[in-house]
Amino acid sequence: MNLAVKFAGLDCVSPLWTASGTFGYAQEFAPYLELATLGAVVTKGISPKPRAGNPLPRICETASGMINSIGLENVGVEGFAQKKLPFLKASGTRVVVNFFGETVDEYVACGAALDALDGVDALEMNVSCPNIKKGGVEFGTVPSVLKELVIACRAVVKKPLIIKLTPNCADIVAIARASIEGGADGLSIINTLSAMAIDARKRRPRIATTFGGLSGPAIKPVALRMCYQVHRALPEVPLSGIGGVQSGEDVVEFLLAGATTVQIGTQSFVEPNAATRILAELKSFLDQEKVTDVNELIGALRS
Ligand SMILES: Cc1cc2nc3c(=O)[nH]c(=O)nc-3n(C[C@H](O)[C@H](O)[C@H](O)COP(=O)(O)O)c2cc1C
Repeated sequence: MNLAVKFAGLDCVSPLWTASGTFGYAQEFAPYLELATLGAVVTKGISPKPRAGNPLPRICETASGMINSIGLENVGVEGFAQKKLPFLKASGTRVVVNFFGETVDEYVACGAALDALDGVDALEMNVSCPNIKKGGVEFGTVPSVLKELVIACRAVVKKPLIIKLTPNCADIVAIARASIEGGADGLSIINTLSAMAIDARKRRPRIATTFGGLSGPAIKPVALRMCYQVHRALPEVPLSGIGGVQSGEDVVEFLLAGATTVQIGTQSFVEPNAATRILAELKSFLDQEKVTDVNELIGALRS
């Protein structure tokens, strides 16, 4: 049975990746699973300088997922290169570094610095960040703004450049198209959905920033719909599906919708070795369905 896939030139032993912000810098999860069995690890989002993130409380549970407003706490490019990358490099898995900035210049500086690091296999750009020079509107919500950002980063990034799309937009296909026109090699679909939770007794929002990002099983149908729409519009573009994956069958659903790789996010909080179980379930699904190569499933949805 073949589980290996190729994503934008990146050879992965399996389609399973771990999602940014839910797997730390991988070292935290090494006691629970064999990192080399993962197709890739996507790191916590890295910014040019370290960030402390938002005030507490910044996480809360919902009926079918969680809301977070971590505020992109991270060690910064220097800290990542010195303290986190050596472990990742030796881990035997592909290293995809998620990154972001608050201005185009910050994105470009961060992308260029990470691209130059030996041991980084690809970059995933988080565009769900407020553009502080344009009144705080998220970069990833306006196609023309996003295209300009991708063009600027593409000019300095030689490694595969993946754009991670936000679902908080009017037209996901227009956003995907703008990314590809800007020079992206692949797309990750989706980031969290803008949400809030209220404590009725206290009459207060449950998280300090009022709004946060919803993740977990609640968002899987939205993520599948967006993957499928983008795959239909841009069938040649490699997609990494993300949103509420809990089982091997969930992975298959994303593959059928057109994803080449599938990321495990919130489930790793519930079960730190989720990726191992999900990989075993994927193998057993392929076995039962007599599929000898996982690539056969990509985009193979019947209408
Ligand atoms: C606590 C937390 C932190 C996250 N941090 C990041 C981040 O730094 N960069 C990013 O692009 N996405 C981040 N995400 C989004 C996830 O990578 C993923 O897109 C989202 O959670 C949906 O997948 P899931 O439903 O499987 O969790 C974060 C999600 C959570 C729950």
